Order: sequence, then C-alpha cells, then structure tokens
Amino acid sequence: MPETFDVKLEKKTYRPDPSYLEGSSMGDWETAYGRFMDDPEGFWAGIAGELEWFRTWDRVKEWKHPYARWFTGAKLNITHNCLDRHAAGDRRNKVALIWRGEEEGTERMYTYRQLHRLVMRFANALKKMGIKKGDTVCIYMPLVPEQVVAILACARIGAVHSIVYGGFGAAALHTRIRDAKAKIVITADVGFRRGKRVPLKTIVDEAVINASSVEKVIVLRRTKPLLELISEMEVDFDEVMEGMAPACEPEVMDAEDPLFILYTSGTTGTPKGIVHTCGGYMVGTYYTSKYVFDLKENDIYWCTADPGWITGHSYIVYGPLAAGATVLITETVPDYPDPGTWWQIVEEFGVTIFYTAPTAIRMFMRFGEEWPGRYNLTSLRILGSVGEPLNPEAFEWYYHVIGKSACPVLDTWWQTETGMHMIATLVGEPMKPGFAGRPIPGVVVDVVDREGNPVPPGIGGLLVIKEPWPSMMRTVHGNDERYRTYWNTIDACYTAGDLAVRDEDGYIMVLGRSDDIIIVAGHNLGTAEVESALVSHEAVAEAAVIGKPDPLKGQAVKAFVILRLGFEPGEKLKQDLIYHVRMGLGPIAMPSEIEFVTSLPKTRSGKIMRRVLKAKEMGMDPGDISTLED
Ligand code: WTA
Repeated sequence: MPETFDVKLEKKTYRPDPSYLEGSSMGDWETAYGRFMDDPEGFWAGIAGELEWFRTWDRVKEWKHPYARWFTGAKLNITHNCLDRHAAGDRRNKVALIWRGEEEGTERMYTYRQLHRLVMRFANALKKMGIKKGDTVCIYMPLVPEQVVAILACARIGAVHSIVYGGFGAAALHTRIRDAKAKIVITADVGFRRGKRVPLKTIVDEAVINASSVEKVIVLRRTKPLLELISEMEVDFDEVMEGMAPACEPEVMDAEDPLFILYTSGTTGTPKGIVHTCGGYMVGTYYTSKYVFDLKENDIYWCTADPGWITGHSYIVYGPLAAGATVLITETVPDYPDPGTWWQIVEEFGVTIFYTAPTAIRMFMRFGEEWPGRYNLTSLRILGSVGEPLNPEAFEWYYHVIGKSACPVLDTWWQTETGMHMIATLVGEPMKPGFAGRPIPGVVVDVVDREGNPVPPGIGGLLVIKEPWPSMMRTVHGNDERYRTYWNTIDACYTAGDLAVRDEDGYIMVLGRSDDIIIVAGHNLGTAEVESALVSHEAVAEAAVIGKPDPLKGQAVKAFVILRLGFEPGEKLKQDLIYHVRMGLGPIAMPSEIEFVTSLPKTRSGKIMRRVLKAKEMGMDPGDISTLED
C-alpha cells in the first residue's frame, strides 16, 4: 500500500438545469444525506417498505464485525418484486425488456406479463430437472432475453446463479464452474459479435471436462441447421420449456439466503466468488436504480454492460426491473457495423437514460463527433458511467457531445463486492469533471492513510467504507478468510482497494487501484490469473504482468516472461503466448505487449514486485525497494 500523496485537483463545476433537482425523487443531497444520518435504519426501512415482502423483518440490521445481516427474519422473493408486483398491477402491459440484435431490424420486446410467464415456465423446467433451492446454476450466455429469463428463473426457485461473462475462455469458465459446483450450465450455440459467431457451446464442452458437479447443459440453439446435441447430458432450451405451465409460485427466501455468486478477480490465486443475498441486495439495487438514476415511469433505460458483470446483475436485471423500468438490452458492440450503431439505437428507441463505461466513451471520442451528430439524441435525459475513473476529457465530451450540455452525467463508483452504487453525484447536483461525487445517502465513506486516519482534502489515500450497507457481499464462496480481509486490513472499515482523494466540498475523485488488479476496458483482471495462464504454456517458466496506461482501454496488460530452457524468444512465440491466454481466459485478458526477460524483481520471500516492474516501465521512482532480493 502506498503512503498518502498530494493530488492536484480540478476545479471546474457544471450546474444542471434546476428542473432536474425540482423533479428528482431523491431531492438535494444535503437534505437526503441528513435524513439518512439522523436515522440510518429508519432510512433503509423506508426504502425496503416500498417493496413487497412475504414477511416483514424483525430487525433492519445486525452487525457483528465483519458480518452483517440485513432485514433479519424477513421473507421475500426478488422476482416477486421484479415481475409479479408489476404484472399484477398497472405495469402489466408495460414493456419490461427490449432486445436489439446485431442486425438492424432484429428486435424483440417483452411486456412485464410476458416476461413473468416465461420466467415461470423456465423455472418449472429447472425444477423438473431436479434443481432445488440452494443448488448452483452456471449461466454462460450471449446477451439475449433468454439470459434474463434464465437468471430470473433461478431466483424464482431459490437456485443460486453464477453468471460467467460470455467473453471468458474455457479455462476461466472451468475454474468458475468447479468452484461453484454448478449442477447445470445454461449456454447457447453461439453469440454474435461483429458479424461473427462466437462458439459458446464449444467452449462449454471443454470447460465441463473434469467438472463432475455438472449434470445437465441446457443449450439455446439460435442458428440453423440446429447444432447437434452430443450426449444425454445436453438438452435444448426451447424443448425443456415446452409444456411447462406459466405458473410457478416463488420460493420463499430468507432475506439472508444467497441469491447469486459472481466471480471477480483477486490479487492472488483464483478469482473470488462474491456472494450476495436476497433481501439486502434487492433493497440496494432497487434504491439506487430508482433514486440515483431517478427513474421515471416513461424512461427507456439502457445500460450497455453485460449480465456477466455486476453492472449487468444490478443495473440491467434486478434493480431496474424491481423499479418497474423499461430496460433495453442489445448484443451489439459500439463500433459495428459502424461507430453510429449505438446512437442509432438511442434515436430509434428513444433512450432516456444511458449508462456506459469510460472506455466506450473514449472510443467514441476517437471516432469523432460526426457519428453521434448523425442521430437525434434529444430523448436522452441522464447519462451514467461506471467501471473506471471517468477522466475529465471524457466527461467533457460525454457531457457536451452526447448530452448537449444539458444532461446530468453520473459517474458511479462501486464494485462487485458493494452490489450497488456507493459514490455518485445525484441528479441535479453540481457536477465536477474527474470526481465521482459524494457518497450517496445510505453510504458512509472516507479517505484514510494506512493507519485508518482520515486524510485532509487534496491528499490522496485509501478509499474505505465505514458502515455496513444492505447490498454488501456477505462472504467469498468457500473462502471466508478472504472475505474477512476486506474488513480487517484497516481497523473496522471495509477497504475497497482503490486510491482516492477528496476536495473541500467532500467530492471524491477515484484514482485507481491500490493493488495488483488491472482494469482493462472496465473489466477487472487479476494479475495472478493472467500469469498462471501464461505459465501454463510449455515455453514459459515464469511470468509477471502489470497494467500500463492505455489511452483507450484505461489500462493494457503488459507481460514479462522468463522462458524455459530450450525456447527461443521471438515474434512467433509472442503471438503464440497471446493466443494461448486468449483461448484460456478470453480476449479481454490478452496481453498487448510481451517482453522476454531473464529475471524478475522479487522480495526475499519470493513474491514478484510488480510495482518495481511498473515503475521501471514508466520511468518512475519504484519507491521503497528495501524488500527487493537483489
Ligand atoms: C473501478 C464495477 C473509478 C474501481 C462496478 C473499483 C471505478 C473496481 C468506478 C470495481 C468509477 C468502478 N470511478 N473507478 N466510477 N467504477 N471503478 O468489481 O477500481 O467490476 O474498485 O465493479 O472498478 O470493479 P467491478
């Protein structure tokens, strides 16, 4: 961990039109935050009370460091709030989901009633296959409505889903299936990406070898001729739905029962299976969808993430559906067939809230203003950003070019572990480019030094969260020790692993990770996972990877590799290694640069000092190297 350090702060402020604040459900930050501070539990109980429960809670919060329980004794099913609540009322025929495929004109829409019925049918199919409350189901699918159906069907019957991003390779999928002991894997024959077919099922075939927990693979077959199913184990998605009744009572879940596991990169070893529970997660994602995005009944809400990441879990599926929104999803990428695709979608569907990642914004900047300029973007009301710091240049472009200097830009800071937004500038509040903003009401954050002492404005330090919150992770699947580390590193606080600085108004600028996690195009990569992928190649004796600043992706992976005896460095081998990582972990983990070296800087106990590699790479002072071996 670094010492504290000075940071030069940007001073610019933008003030949205007062109508935003006047019309906002949350109201101004000071008042709302004050309301929370006066009565934290009352505040959360008020939010929870907007949802429907089968039994209400005995206590809002029970906290025994580092374990929290929220809404104890309460019974619920999150799908009741995402579906039944709307399907039984005024939103019955409201569109819940709009899907846009890669080819123009391929689109599907589902009302709340239709989605509800599909989910219940698929839930019945899962039940018929023997899936029960507490079983784990792995979902490895393209971004199609069936994925949303599969997710909600698991939640309906109390099965714990573990969604793996469709861009991950076989090795990454295998590790995650094994760790979660998934009984079923739900996949598709292919995903479509840039006009090409991504053979997901082939990757699953490889990933389930030596994964003995897997009993069935459900395959959504999208292309003709139908992909052949090769064993008894494999069943067709549509066939299992056939004859299933569109009626399935929701499983009665305890607020603290697990809802899902989602893997995120760790600094060491295998990825961490972050566990979220039903009650608190529902309250947190509903609250932030409704109040941070200030959702209104007629919004067309588009979050460009994938359900394979936490952003997709919380802000494509659970939060917005719990809030009764119309959610747009699409399989398209931002620059195919041309860099106008997404803006065309905004115009065509009249998107009002648009939530994306800085890496996409920087890509659009590079293509130029003429692309968004071709489309009518006046439907847009609110813009959001997530995944890495929204640098001031990207903020300005997003605000002026996409938002026409009128839409609030919400830079939302949060994590897989937090489940919901933690820091963001509320709609209508003054915005400062480069700053995520202040903690949202309900959340207490601080910037501290290594001992946990708050640091003054302008001094960089570690970002910590001081009080538990409903949608916090409850444990790391199968490794509670790793969970406790979050709360034990700095006394009594949750350490986020990010560096941050505050200004005089309490606005927080997030500067990046303080550990060995690399964020490439908004996707977290653990150095350990990439390194072990490299080392699994026959030519590699040892490897170390670092994140290097990249103008587009934020960071890019650079790998330092020591070869085994008998292997010659060269361009061909570099390409081989890159391909090897791509096949194992997926395209996001591919090193953009490989350097062959004969030694790596290590501590005396043998740990690679990536910090030293990084400093050298960037021509910077490596800091304290007293632990360096030689
Ligand atoms: C980074 C994604 C700066 C941060 C929701 C965090 C951000 C990690 C922001 C979590 C932001 C996310 N500004 N940094 N607005 N949002 N990050 O688990 O380093 O995929 O710790 O969750 O992304 O990534 P994760």
